[in-house]
Amino acid sequence: MTERTLVLVKPDGVERKLVGEVISRIERKGLGLVALDLRVVDRELAAQHYAEHDGKPFFESLLEFITSGPVLAAVVEGPRAIAAWRQVAGGTDPVEKATPGSIRGDLALETGSNLVHGSDSPESAAREIKLWFPAL
Ligand code: CMP
Repeated sequence: MTERTLVLVKPDGVERKLVGEVISRIERKGLGLVALDLRVVDRELAAQHYAEHDGKPFFESLLEFITSGPVLAAVVEGPRAIAAWRQVAGGTDPVEKATPGSIRGDLALETGSNLVHGSDSPESAAREIKLWFPAL
């Protein structure tokens, strides 16, 4: 079944010039790009995006990090796109969870700066795509 998911290259990924690497891995997997936008995120959008983490000890640092520089936001489409992108990205903790061959497994070290984001369910994908790309 064709699905859509929201992908972010976070400020650490843009800063490290890994945008091309991430897009390349999306395309090599066979997933398609529906929308792409490089932008600096304001605190309001960041807080809405990460609403499920409100109240957690790392919430403030999460908001500071995601608003600290340009982010590449993308809508990605394909069969089982949500799970497929999560496989390409690797687990949240780049050392303990992400496997070699994944973006985080190959290129990241820390959970707080793990390069990319992906929606974790069809409900999150719908919510996040509406938030980041209201016109879609
Ligand atoms: P992401 O998939 O974008 O969704 C929530 C983010 O919170 C996650 O990636 C991590 O970057 C971050 N995160 C999760 N747990 C922690 C933690 N214990 N400390 C710092 N950041 C965290």
